[in-house]
Amino acid sequence: MLILGIESSCDETAAAVVEDGEGILSNIIASQALTHEKYGGVVPELASREHLKKIALVVDEACRQAGVRLQEIDALAVTEGPGLIGSLLVGLVYGKALAQALHKPLVGVNHLEGHIHSAWLENKMARRATPSLGEARFPNVSLVVSGGHTSLFRVWTENHPHTHTPIFFYRQLGQTRDDAAGEAFDKVAKLLALGYPGGPVIDKLARFGNPHAVPFGPIRMKGNALDFSFSGLKTAVLYRLRGSELGVEAAKRREWRNRAGRVTSEEIRSQCSEATLDLIASFQEAVVTDLVERTLAAAKSTQISSVFVAGGVACNSRLRERFREAVKAAGLSVFFPSPLLSTDNAAMIAAAGYFKLLAGERADLSLTAHASFPLGVAHHEPAATRG
Ligand code: KG4
Ligand code: ZN
Repeated sequence: MLILGIESSCDETAAAVVEDGEGILSNIIASQALTHEKYGGVVPELASREHLKKIALVVDEACRQAGVRLQEIDALAVTEGPGLIGSLLVGLVYGKALAQALHKPLVGVNHLEGHIHSAWLENKMARRATPSLGEARFPNVSLVVSGGHTSLFRVWTENHPHTHTPIFFYRQLGQTRDDAAGEAFDKVAKLLALGYPGGPVIDKLARFGNPHAVPFGPIRMKGNALDFSFSGLKTAVLYRLRGSELGVEAAKRREWRNRAGRVTSEEIRSQCSEATLDLIASFQEAVVTDLVERTLAAAKSTQISSVFVAGGVACNSRLRERFREAVKAAGLSVFFPSPLLSTDNAAMIAAAGYFKLLAGERADLSLTAHASFPLGVAHHEPAATRG
């Protein structure tokens, strides 16, 4: 079955054609990073306009690269939330219109569900090339960690009574109470005038600093031990800059960046003192330690031996390294998507949508976008813990 996936929840306009939930025939991503770079974050109004400009081109290119005509697509899967409402609507309305015009079935997919499927999709593709590779299995504990989300889920499957295909179930175990981890990377990069998006540049610069130089200490909170909080860490970086040499250096770097225009991470490094590189490395280490420790605590408390890590921050090289060390020591296994499938993409939406379609799910024209769209949150939980 050929599924056309469409994703536009934030600042990437994406379309992909995926065969039978596991063969990526095309995966087109038009990034808006250059549009938002000068603002140091995504500007929602600009994001919607960019999606409008790109959506038709991106869908056409996905079909062209897959070598299929639109009429040959069997069904469509679109992201219905969570995300920026104006951005979501562009992909969703385009998908609905295409499904209607082509008389093809349509399903809505939760963006977080897509991220979780990206780790599995990657594993299925890798195992086709190398069958001896470990198999990503369910149940698992999945960490979705990106610019908009930091959430832990227990994920399990049950077979559909008639089709015997897997139906996926999710229970949210914890989530961030303030900033997402990627958001903290982006905000700290902005404070230090390192550029946008912050995650990739911090990842590169942190290799040159001492991760233990600044004692940020563990992140502590009352209540659910599987929740996250990164805003305190960001504020701690801010306080280290205020009235200090590091702050003066960041202001100079900001001026230099404004004059220099586009610069490489090597050039940025040449504008960073050893103390700044230590601060960057220590900040990253604190975020990574917290993500690894809470995820492993979730695996332990649910007695699950398989961990999935997905979302833009899953690209982080130190995070991957620390996860690999930690799961080895604990006798667990961890699965990551490749960097291209870690950040926002439509192949993950098509892959997740495939199983919904197999289970008989169909969306009608009432399908609409949801800025907030919790995945796996039990109805009896207090509203304050949703989002
Ligand atoms: O999944 P994604 O593309 O979009 C959202 O759903 O948010 O994630 C983007 C986020 C940004 O905050 C970006 O800074 C972060 O992922 N990111 C990274 C790395 N690459 C991207 N964070 C840390 N290290 C990286 N290498
Ligand atoms: Zn995402």
